[in-house]
Order: sequence, then C-alpha cells, then structure tokens
Amino acid sequence: MSRAFIAALSAMALVPFAAIASDLRTDANAVFKPITPAAAAKAVKNNDATPAKIELGKQLFFDPRISASQLISCNSCHNLSLGGVDAGSTSIGHGWQKGPRRAPTVLNAVFNVAQFWDGRAEDLKAQAKGPVQAGVEMNNTPANVEATLNSIPGYVASFQKAFPGDNKPASFDNFARAIEAFESTLVTPGSRFDKFLGGDEAALDATEKKGLRLFIDKGCSGCHDGVNVGGGNYTQFGAVEKPAAAVLPEGDKGRFAVTKSPADIYSFRVAPLRNVALRAPYFHTGQVWTLEEAVSIMAKSQLGATLAPDETAAIVAFLGALTGEQPRVDYPILPARTNATPKPQQEVAQKHAH
Ligand code: HEC
Ligand code: HEC
Repeated sequence: MSRAFIAALSAMALVPFAAIASDLRTDANAVFKPITPAAAAKAVKNNDATPAKIELGKQLFFDPRISASQLISCNSCHNLSLGGVDAGSTSIGHGWQKGPRRAPTVLNAVFNVAQFWDGRAEDLKAQAKGPVQAGVEMNNTPANVEATLNSIPGYVASFQKAFPGDNKPASFDNFARAIEAFESTLVTPGSRFDKFLGGDEAALDATEKKGLRLFIDKGCSGCHDGVNVGGGNYTQFGAVEKPAAAVLPEGDKGRFAVTKSPADIYSFRVAPLRNVALRAPYFHTGQVWTLEEAVSIMAKSQLGATLAPDETAAIVAFLGALTGEQPRVDYPILPARTNATPKPQQEVAQKHAH
C-alpha cells in the first residue's frame, strides 16, 4: 500500500469522526448555555445582591423560627445537601401535612422564567413570601415573621446593615429580598456538560455524547433548553399522550389556575434539568423514582416516541453529566431569641402526642 493511500484512508476515517464530534458541540451550543455566577447576579432584578444581604438571606434560609411551629426552615424542604430538594415525594409541612406538589430545587432557580411548577410567582422575592404563609408549609403570617425578626437584636442589626437608610429594615418585603439575594448564589457551574460546551471534547464519554445527540435529535431540547436545560417556558404535560393519573392527577390543572386560559390546562413549566440525577423522585407529583422511567414517560407523553433501552440509558448518562459543583455553604450561626420573641405554635393531633 502506498503511503499516500494510507494517508487518504486515515483522513477518510478521521475527518467524518472529527466532524461529528464538533457538530455535536456546535449543535449543543446553539440550544444550551453554560452556567456562570456572573449570569446569576445579572438575573436578579430590582435587588442588589450585596454581601450583607446574601449573608442575612443565608441565615433566614436556615432559620426554622420563620415558621409558625419554629420547626421548619426553607432548608427542610430545599435541603442544600440533597440538590436543593427534600427526600420526596411531595413535601411535608406544618403539622405533618402533605402538600400537593414536590419541592422543586432552589439550585439555579434564579435562571428560571418564573417560580413554581406553574410559574405563579414572577421572581424569587415574590416566591419567598409564599411558603411562609402557606398552611401546608410554614403556616405563618407576615406580621408574626416581622414580630419575630424585630424581637431579635442580632437580626435587627443585620437588616439595618443589609438595607441601609430603610425606615423599617426588618420587614417582610426585605426578608424576601435577602432570601432572593442568597438564592442567587446557589448556582452550580463546572458540570462536565458545561466543560464540553466550552470546548473540552473529553469531558463527556461516548455514551454521554450519544445521549446528548439523542436529547437534541429526538426533540427533548425543543422544550428543555437554555442555561437551565429547561425552566424557560410552559407546555402541556402530556402534549402527545396523557401520562398515568398517579403522575398527572386530574385535580391539578397546572398553569390553568394562574392564567384561567383553557389552553393552559395541565400546562406546567418545563422542568429545569441541571443536577437532575441528584433529585429523585421526579415530576411535580414526585411519584417516579428512577430517571430511566422519567425519561421513558417524557418520550411517550411529550414526543409520542418509544425509546430503545440503550437510547434511554444514553440519555440518562447524559443527564448525569448535568451535575455541577454544589454550592459550599457554611452552616450559619443564628442570632439568639429574646423574651419578646413569639413562642412556637406546635399544635399536634392528640394521637401523635406523647
Ligand atoms: C414544607 C416544604 C417547603 C418549605 C418549608 C419551603 N418550600 Fe419552597 N417549595 C415547596 C414546594 C412544594 C414548592 C412547589 C410548589 C408549587 O409549585 O406549587 C416550592 C417552591 C419553591 C421555589 C420555586 C422553585 C422553582 O423552580 O419553581 C423556591 C425558589 C422556593 N420554594 C424557595 C423556598 C424558600 C426561600 C423557603 C423558605 C422561606 C421555602 N421555599 C420553604 C416546598 C417548601
Ligand atoms: C413538549 C415539551 C417537552 C418535551 C419535548 C420534553 N419534556 Fe421533559 N418535561 C417537560 C415538562 C413540562 C416537565 C414537567 C412535568 C411536570 O412534572 O409537571 C418535564 C419534566 C422532565 C423531567 C423530570 C424533571 C424533574 O425535576 O422532575 C425529566 C427528567 C425530563 N423532563 C426529561 C425529558 C427528556 C429526556 C425528554 C426527551 C425524551 C423530554 N423531557 C422531552 C416538557 C417536555
């Protein structure tokens, strides 16, 4: 064999391979964006995330005295050691009540178009006021939260520092602003997927690349796109075929409750998929415990497709590469209560009390 012939052969073998590899990255960069902390800071509107606000927001996020029972903190249901969720399925809140939906993650939530499965809160500061007042979550009132915060001199000083010049610094609105500032730091850059997007061809293995290719070509990325691989728009759950009632119960009509538009019946925000491998069980009902099953349900219900087992496995492998560096949070020391601090309200059904 001549040397030229061998060179031509290996060129034929190499060129298409290189073209496929770089095409995949080009295609991926056309629909997804890597996470950067700078982008997170920019995503917060009308609220300057100063270090004083972030530090105060962290204390509030971990403080169970924000709940009526003084047992439940934001971290109870959005556990930062567990990918920003609870262990499932739907959340347990005040008085051991079970809520109707699963806790979505607070990690990277700042990138979502709006908050909650149905997008009913415009941003994180609007969102933070919800759980405090929800009967099945923290069951508290804004007035009682303000009374609690203002009874604790350590908090009064921190609010003054975080909101200088404000004539009522420890207010419910500023509580929400501080939490939003802290949440904007809960981002997970550095995933292998982001390294691949940035040009590191070896960051994904062959199976994960196959999964990424399928994720784009089968149409998953038509909904799950952008920086959060989802979280950017709304669509019907069951766009092609309605999933089982355990996964999509008739009673929860999704975004219809927000817009009252019939087109939004069973419409939900496209779930963001960053760190999804850390967050079983899946969907707003939290009834699906494996990613394999979640991916099969998605293929069927959203695309009318049945995936071969090796295709499902490749997509699941790709989803694993979306796990980024988890935020390292120093456990905050909370300022001490005083004699003026409201007492916990811990009514417990008699048969459970001992
Ligand atoms: C009892 C459990 C529970 C507690 C306590 C709780 N949450 Fe949640 N959180 C949930 C559930 C459930 C949802 C989804 C509700 C829905 O979509 O209708 C949610 C939604 C959210 C979201 C929206 C995320 C997204 O992607 O849409 C954020 C942000 C959030 N909570 C932050 C907080 C903060 C901050 C606190 C403390 C002030 C808090 N939560 C307390 C259970 C809880
Ligand atoms: C037509 C839009 C659409 C398409 C296409 C789509 N999804 Fe989804 N996906 C959604 C919506 C909406 C949800 C949230 C459903 C719910 O629980 O209410 C979701 C949820 C998920 C979840 C669960 C995430 C969680 O945190 O619980 C996974 C995993 C997922 N999708 C993967 C995929 C994969 C893989 C594909 C391609 C086979 C795909 N999706 C195609 C809209 C879509």
